[in-house]
Amino acid sequence: GGWAVAGGALTSGQPGLLLRSRAPLPRPYEVPLPVPSRLAPVSTSGAADVYELTQRPARLRILPGLETDAWTYDGTFPGPTIVSRSGRRTVVRHRNELPRPTVVHLHGGHTPYGSDGYPTALLLPRNSTAGTAGAAGMAGMPGMSGAGDAQDTAAGQRTYTYPMEQRAATLWYHDHRMGFTGPNVWHGLAGFHLVHDDEEEALPLPAGERDIPLLIADRSFAADGSFQYPALDAGQRTAGVTDRYMDGVLGDVVLVNGAPWPVLETQRLRYRLRLLNGSNARRYRLALDPAPPGGGALVQIGGDGGLLERPLAHDTLDIAPAERFDVVVDFARYRPGTRVRLVNRLGSGGTATVMRFDVSGARPPADDSRVPDRLSTIPAPRADRAAATRTFRFQRRAGSGWTINGRPYEPGRPLATVRLGTTEVWRFVTDFHHPVHLHLNHFQVTARNGRSPGPYDAGWKDTVDLRPAESVEIVTRFTDYPGRFLLHCHNLEHEDMGMMADFVTE
Ligand code: C2O
Ligand code: CU
Repeated sequence: GGWAVAGGALTSGQPGLLLRSRAPLPRPYEVPLPVPSRLAPVSTSGAADVYELTQRPARLRILPGLETDAWTYDGTFPGPTIVSRSGRRTVVRHRNELPRPTVVHLHGGHTPYGSDGYPTALLLPRNSTAGTAGAAGMAGMPGMSGAGDAQDTAAGQRTYTYPMEQRAATLWYHDHRMGFTGPNVWHGLAGFHLVHDDEEEALPLPAGERDIPLLIADRSFAADGSFQYPALDAGQRTAGVTDRYMDGVLGDVVLVNGAPWPVLETQRLRYRLRLLNGSNARRYRLALDPAPPGGGALVQIGGDGGLLERPLAHDTLDIAPAERFDVVVDFARYRPGTRVRLVNRLGSGGTATVMRFDVSGARPPADDSRVPDRLSTIPAPRADRAAATRTFRFQRRAGSGWTINGRPYEPGRPLATVRLGTTEVWRFVTDFHHPVHLHLNHFQVTARNGRSPGPYDAGWKDTVDLRPAESVEIVTRFTDYPGRFLLHCHNLEHEDMGMMADFVTE
């Protein structure tokens, strides 16, 4: 549909190909909110925790009376949650029993090149000759072999090693196969990966059953209950491409942790909600309806890269694809029995609402949690020490597709080479709408349109939302891991259609 821009903010609709569901849909707030199960390690030693995941087809029950064929991590969508300890190595052995190659990326992970999920570093299917042909095609590709990639790449299995030298944060893992990330994630290849550390655990934040990750993602369903997505073959997609497809694929059903418009019964206590926009292209402007007296319902305590310095109260929260906002909501601010909807002020029809919290009428136990005024320490960004300042322009390609600095993605042709041990200023500029994501490092936003950062730019981030005609300036320090990493738009259709670039660290 159409959209309008006022004062730099998206005020209505959203560009993209909106696929209307043909399956009968449930009424909102009937399905209880599922919480993804936590993956248990297969072994744990002094040095590392080892996990195994199998990527496989599964039939999910998402809609009443229908089954949805999904591509999953271990049979569920979202996949199981992996929980790591900061500073402790996490090893994840993935097996691929899907009939297609995949790539696993830990989004927000400070991960060496060989395990980062470079988009042509395929995890081949266990039983597929097509997969083998694909592997042969990749063998001559620059950056595909060598010392940085000492992984187990036997067909059907690949081991990803995460040093986890990073602070507590809400990360997520998802597919990253070149040209196919959109369909692969849409069909179910995404899950949470949480990192804990001592600093965060010492805080009196809501924990345990009151610390809930929420993966919000729109989807669309065919009449038989299967996920609807434009044709999977890259050739077909290019041939039949429309501008709307290119702008991004949008669904008309909002899933939270894989369930349509679910409901959660809450006590009149504080809850920590780890919000992740796992949608391919949809942005949300989240708010609680009704708002509690006095407003400021969504108290942000963290972002992509973990805790903020101080809590930040929001009435509404704009969340672009791949961004995370860690918020505390105090349901004691509502009367017993209030039904509080989490709504999306950018949506309409089925996408205007996300889920509902039903505040219990029962008298709660005393709340032992609180949100301290001071959460963490974040060093001031040192733009003045930058060894280089670079500009990246995110633009439409004449004809079809997307580019960064005029170039569609080409593996092995970096747009930048940075020296480890240095700080850099990167400026992202666009005339359209792009959530820009950097691998390897978290960063701080230092300016938006030449002025102060916006209300959703606080703390350490790895994805920053650019709106039409905006520029954003970030500062980041490249500390370690030589190799080849990615800068790209996290609108997955933009990414699949070229809006990605390599940068090299040395
Ligand atoms: Cu969440 Cu390069 O990806
Ligand atoms: Cu984009």
